Amino acid sequence: MARDLREGLSEQPRRIPPKYFYDEHGSRLFDEITRLPEYYPTRAERDLLIRWGATIVGIAKPRTLVELGAGSADKTRTILDEMLRAAQSDVTYVPVDVSAGFLAKSAVQLRNEYPSVCVTPVVADFSTHFALPEHPSPALHAFLGSTIGNFTPDDAVGLVSSVRERMAASDYFLLGVDLRKDPGLIENAYNDSRGITAQFNKNMLSVINECLGADFNLSAFSHSAIYNDREQRMEMRLIARGDQSVVIPDVGDFYFADGDGILTEVSYKYDRSLASDILERSGLVLREWFTDDAGLFALALSSH
Ligand code: SAH
Ligand code: AVI
Repeated sequence: MARDLREGLSEQPRRIPPKYFYDEHGSRLFDEITRLPEYYPTRAERDLLIRWGATIVGIAKPRTLVELGAGSADKTRTILDEMLRAAQSDVTYVPVDVSAGFLAKSAVQLRNEYPSVCVTPVVADFSTHFALPEHPSPALHAFLGSTIGNFTPDDAVGLVSSVRERMAASDYFLLGVDLRKDPGLIENAYNDSRGITAQFNKNMLSVINECLGADFNLSAFSHSAIYNDREQRMEMRLIARGDQSVVIPDVGDFYFADGDGILTEVSYKYDRSLASDILERSGLVLREWFTDDAGLFALALSSH
């Protein structure tokens, strides 16, 4: 974290990687976001999984589900249900997440709900090279929730390439992407009326305070979430309210003038051509593209 902050806060514009949203509290706040009326992506993706889950499992025939950034694995249960329905052998689930405490709790809950599924959680940063535990093949590697949107297309290629390296010849990769649409609808999803997204955004500062002993004053920053039409992405920032200095031990002292921002998250919105281009550049081939009638969200199924 100290290294990432030293780098990100010395650049213009200042930025902090979005993985630092997710301590246990941040994961809970994200879960709350997924239930907000304004945040359509989770509902749209869940509907697609309900509609197409059996087809996806029929094509991939997975014995193992590996999920990057699994979180509460709420929607994932739809895939597990289909895997169990089709199962001729044991089902293994490998949720991978950086939010260690939350992952452990969600694994306990899954084991209780699915006693016949072998749940093997892995605490890892999926943007680094990490090893998967031994698992039965074939596997379906899933990256849901449009979390890929939190990476630039070039970084997304790096990430999907490392997924491809972990994939056996018979494995499949299921990617969830949020689609381009009316920017007003998108912006609304990141500016909810209850202010949960604002709390989620500011939680990053309390994670840094806690981990590094920094002295960010959360009430001296405000939430900003704006759609960047040119880049086709949401941009979330924390904006300084008033001039202020912040001390981050081991990282440095930082001056923020009133209105200065920190870029905390980008969330790229996709179309089929961007998804297929990223998959292709990563060495994978888009096999199926599932989307809803309103064009809110899409699931891309790919393989070697
Ligand atoms: N897949 C869930 C959760 C999406 S939120 C859904 O679709 O609702 C993003 C998830 O990715 C969080 O659980 C977060 O802890 C995890 N995450 C974010 N950055 C990560 C990283 N670099 N490595 C591993 N997990 C990460
Ligand atoms: C996890 N990720 C895909 C979410 C998104 O929509 O970019 C995180 C989020 N940020 C604000 N609201 C939700």
